[in-house]
Amino acid sequence: MKLTAEHGYVDLPEHINTLAAKGLLLTVDRPINKDTEMHPLVRWQYRGGIPEDGRKAFLFTNVTDSKGRQYPDGSVAIGALAGTEEIYAIGMNRPAKDIGAAWLDAIANPVSPREVAEAPCQEILITGDALKGEGNGLDALPIPISTPGFDVAPYLTAALWITRDPETGVQNLGLYRGNLKAPDRLAVMMERTTLAGGYVHWQKYRAKGEPMPVAVVLGAPPIVEFTGPQKLPLDVDELTVAGGLAGCPINVVRAKTVDLLVPAEAQVIIEGLIDTKELEPEGPFGESHGYMALEEYNFRMNVTAITRRRKYIISSIISQITPSESSVIKKVAYEPLYLSHLRDTLNIKDVSRVTLHEPLTNLRPFVFVTVTHGAPKTEIWRALTGAASFTPAIGKFCIAVDEDIDAGDTNHVLWAMAYRCNPIEDIHVVPHRGKGHGPSLKSAQDNSTMLVDATAKGTLPPVALPKREFMERAKAIWEELGLPKLKPESPWFGYSLGDWNDEWDQCAERAVEGDWFLNGRRSEASQSNSAEPQERVDNIRLEKES
Ligand SMILES: Cc1cc2nc3c(=O)[nH]c(=O)nc-3n(C[C@H](O)[C@H](O)[C@H](O)COP(=O)(O)O)c2cc1C
Repeated sequence: MKLTAEHGYVDLPEHINTLAAKGLLLTVDRPINKDTEMHPLVRWQYRGGIPEDGRKAFLFTNVTDSKGRQYPDGSVAIGALAGTEEIYAIGMNRPAKDIGAAWLDAIANPVSPREVAEAPCQEILITGDALKGEGNGLDALPIPISTPGFDVAPYLTAALWITRDPETGVQNLGLYRGNLKAPDRLAVMMERTTLAGGYVHWQKYRAKGEPMPVAVVLGAPPIVEFTGPQKLPLDVDELTVAGGLAGCPINVVRAKTVDLLVPAEAQVIIEGLIDTKELEPEGPFGESHGYMALEEYNFRMNVTAITRRRKYIISSIISQITPSESSVIKKVAYEPLYLSHLRDTLNIKDVSRVTLHEPLTNLRPFVFVTVTHGAPKTEIWRALTGAASFTPAIGKFCIAVDEDIDAGDTNHVLWAMAYRCNPIEDIHVVPHRGKGHGPSLKSAQDNSTMLVDATAKGTLPPVALPKREFMERAKAIWEELGLPKLKPESPWFGYSLGDWNDEWDQCAERAVEGDWFLNGRRSEASQSNSAEPQERVDNIRLEKES
């Protein structure tokens, strides 16, 4: 069956064609060394002052390596999954504004995959001795080095690792880093502290004394790929949620040498067995927390087969220091889950938005919780503790802000902390947080959590900018003068926060009408020999009245 966006989902090459048609793809046809040039080139897009709406997906069609090898059948795409939120939305086949609701709907209404007998991902089968020897196995695939100068080897960065729970038979699919070791061997880091699904399965196979069958998917249809990093419950098969997102079953085919079902329209599948007796050193590798992950013991996979399309495209995700493709893919997926957890599961109706801070910090340490103005203090603190405890690795610093604060702009959050938060009353530090996803530190102490209520306690004076009508009129003049195009930044007009009165409104109206001398007469009548400097005039008036 031909897959189309109307049908539900498309494969990676069709998605890349759509990006090209929308002007969101840069195709690089000149030779690019995947070991030294490819990731650094795309990195400039994130460290070169290019705004998010100027970022593109890259497709490398003429890949070489440091040994002068060529990969005539394989191309590499970077940023094609989540170079920007817009690119992610195209892969999701819906506008960006509908993505949060789509995730919640797909999780609530999963669709089981449909097994097919033949699949594009099995056009070519390499197995047995054909996998051994230089240039025959994993090293025949154009897998790039992410952090040249620090990484130990080429790494799989967009690979979906499929395993099966030996007790329930339910498959898990997770996106984990994979360290190439030999034509028929690689290592994988399935995180213990975040209880990666593959790690939990590995423990069960280890208890049985058996190796763990595994299938590694490269170049999955984007809608399937997006479920890899999503935080889903352990016993949920991600392929069913991908079906929920697509609104139709995902086609799957039985792998050739392991008893697992893999996405039929994927580009490449690596099949094999993960050892449950011995571990092997893995890394160093540049991680998404922005530091090098150092060499540590992880799982070893022995490859039993590679199947692929005749011509194929491999996705490589650019990660490490944020912002990156890795942080976009997680941000768009995690924020709606956090909002749903606080608002729907914990029933905190005052929460209207959850924002995970992205640049440099990588989403997990800072969580900003937006609450409606006037929310009870008890609900604000329930939201803060709920945000801090939903998953082990997210929420080291949780900060509650009002709705007029744009939590997407860190300057706004600091603005709220500066004037709406009294540290001794509004900040609490809670002990015993796991170290989570961060650089490996020699001291193995527990971490802790900081909860900050940076919402306004009571009223505040208005924000000191001209009222909206004056700014709008001035904008029209700005445009009439042909001055550079404006991109209004919030706040761009003044608004009330409760501490204001009708008299001051009247004074301001008189001022803009040119009658400010009337205001001078008004204050003349209130001259005082008992007031102290900086004493509020309205307080003195109230005292007199009472
Ligand atoms: C680019 C990228 C790389 C990732 N690498 C790893 C990894 O190496 N190990 C890991 O356990 N999680 C990694 N994650 C996070 C997992 O994909 C995420 O926690 C996901 O929920 C795991 O699925 P699971 O719960 O089914 O295991 C990565 C995420 C992204 C976006």
